[in-house]
Amino acid sequence: MIRSVIRGTGSYLPEHIMTNEALTERVDTTDEWIRERTGIRQRHIAAEGETTSDLATHAAKRAIKDAGLEASDIDLIVLATTTPDYTFPATATIVQERLGMHHGAAFDVQAVCSGFIYAIKVVDAMLRTGAAKNALVIGAETFSRLLDWDDRTTCVLFGDGAGAVVMSAEEGEGTNEDRGMLSTLIRSDGRHRELLYVDGGPSKTGTVGHVRMIGNQVFRHAVTDIAAAMKECAAQVGLDMTDVDYCVPHQANQRILDGVGKRLKLRPEQVISTVALHANTSAASVPLALDTAIKDGRIKDGHLVMLEAFGGGFTWGAALFRL
Ligand code: ACO
Repeated sequence: MIRSVIRGTGSYLPEHIMTNEALTERVDTTDEWIRERTGIRQRHIAAEGETTSDLATHAAKRAIKDAGLEASDIDLIVLATTTPDYTFPATATIVQERLGMHHGAAFDVQAVCSGFIYAIKVVDAMLRTGAAKNALVIGAETFSRLLDWDDRTTCVLFGDGAGAVVMSAEEGEGTNEDRGMLSTLIRSDGRHRELLYVDGGPSKTGTVGHVRMIGNQVFRHAVTDIAAAMKECAAQVGLDMTDVDYCVPHQANQRILDGVGKRLKLRPEQVISTVALHANTSAASVPLALDTAIKDGRIKDGHLVMLEAFGGGFTWGAALFRL
């Protein structure tokens, strides 16, 4: 049985760090409010002229190197983003060109904060059916460009960054002991668009728009839907959450991470958290946190790892793999 195995990871954060303290000079907020309600201490913000493809290319190069491959070995790039360089072409094709790749295929996936999980689902299916051999899956955002810097209810929550993984098709035994993706699940429900959306776009307004969110309502949906998705994702292959070594969640809010962890009876140290340092980097947040926990030695070969995310749409999902 062919499995899609995570072979390397990489990430990149823009140089400039914006602390909570710095935000208090722009909006009526406090470091204390932001820390207590979200756990966020700081976020990285892309420099003027630094684009999503810049961040994505740095992360991609690191992931390819970590996988022990060359860019020429990659035959598929799927990039999850809500903040593309241009309306078209896809940011994935810009990264493809910058990696010096002129073969295979590259395209973007748009599912806001759940984008990386959606991209994993697509790539897993393509690798297992022989459509590609070595894929780059990237989550990259310059989310700061979508923020209304006068709106304290949203601008304190987000940051910029990129994370990438290389996934390769490898032969497995067909059991849950195999390395690679064991189960993936994606969901959406368009009824809740008004709770979390951007108020602009090429077809509707001809503008980029700004993020709008009814945070406390999003919070309630997120905790319930994420917990259910992870349980179902594990159950699809006859496992449950007690089998999981680590959970790498979308980094929106420490209180969401704690709430979901509690519901699923995970120990706090099993839930990887980078939200304090990165804030919510939308599609980049899961691969950024995954790279962090692999590089610092917490997640090791053989561990069973659950990824999850929730975002605008609503969209949400989970993916279970063995490293
Ligand atoms: N500083 C100070 N006060 C603030 C700030 C701020 N930055 N922002 C809001 N407040 C105030 C509000 O105005 C409100 O004041 P009021 O009681 O006088 O009206 C009070 O704080 C409480 O506001 P709530 O929205 O109820 O606060 P809550 O505890 O829910 O925290 C938060 C808000 C952090 C946004 C939380 O709801 C949250 O994290 N929601 C989920 C976000 C999320 O998961 N997003 C998903 C993905 S994002 C994506 O897909 C793009």
